[in-house]
Amino acid sequence: MSGKTTKLNRMLALEMGRVTERAAVCSSLWVGRGDEKSADQAAVDAMRKELNVLDIDGTVVIGEGERDEAPMLYIGEKVGTGKGPKVDIALDPLEGTTLTAKAMPNAMTVLAAAQGGTLLNAPDCYMDKIAIGGGYPAGLVDLDATPAENLEALAKARKVGVAQITACILDRPRHADLIRAVREAGARVTLITDGDIAGVIATTDHETGIDIYMGVGGAPEGVLAAAALRCIGGQMQGRLITNVEEQKTRAASMGVKDFNKKFDMSEMASGDVIFAATGVTDGWLLDGIHHERGGVTTNTIVMRSATGTVRRLNSFHSAIEKFT
Ligand code: FBP
Repeated sequence: MSGKTTKLNRMLALEMGRVTERAAVCSSLWVGRGDEKSADQAAVDAMRKELNVLDIDGTVVIGEGERDEAPMLYIGEKVGTGKGPKVDIALDPLEGTTLTAKAMPNAMTVLAAAQGGTLLNAPDCYMDKIAIGGGYPAGLVDLDATPAENLEALAKARKVGVAQITACILDRPRHADLIRAVREAGARVTLITDGDIAGVIATTDHETGIDIYMGVGGAPEGVLAAAALRCIGGQMQGRLITNVEEQKTRAASMGVKDFNKKFDMSEMASGDVIFAATGVTDGWLLDGIHHERGGVTTNTIVMRSATGTVRRLNSFHSAIEKFT
């Protein structure tokens, strides 16, 4: 089996959960300490250590950046023992470095594993995104429709008024027009300061109160969110924003031919995919790490597109000195 792109072994889902758990425990030591870099480094070190004991022939396709700018978990880095099947790895060791540094909600460690060659190799640029949860007719919302059109379509499908719809949007000056348009259409806006993977996944869970995610965030985060929605159900589109020549060159070298292409979720993550995330701080999707007498608790979600299985793992770790 070595070296071949095969269907992912289901046990890999649990292994991926162990990787995000370790990264979350290590970065949690930096929660509230105002030090984004150290929090991120702790997650990177832990994730790499844990990935490298797995029997996979893994390649990082979405990682911490290019080899010359990221000493670890850079794009193209080989991970695993090399003895198992070929697996593409997309990771965001700490999604929400500022959230962690400021002890704010929704920081988590994130990883996706996919059959080789099936994830969009997104360069480190922005992506325009739109996402909704599962159970709606295909193509209900569209990046090229106006915010009002999308909100009305969603409200109609839910058999409610637009006033009952809430859009999650990153709180950035670039979104001033979008936020205004959503409010003028009659919907509510929940602004987040960071962490749009959680923002996208929140649309899949009624309890979050989020119905739709809209706006521009990181492209790597877009692919990871698409991988999650492939497993849990939902719809998402993304379009890379390659404003400068350097980004176009980079995107082209990663296989992107049409810079204006609207990628559907299943084009961003087209094959068999596993998604895992562990909370660092409490959030919509996950509880964060809680340090208790004698150890820590972790809350992890692991999902597989092959079966649509979503597992939630609540774990207690007594020997955390072994994690660092
Ligand atoms: P980091 O964890 O790398 O800080 O990214 C957080 C994040 O908020 C992502 O969730 C989002 O996609 C991106 O940054 C938005 O980028 P920007 O802060 O440049 O608007």
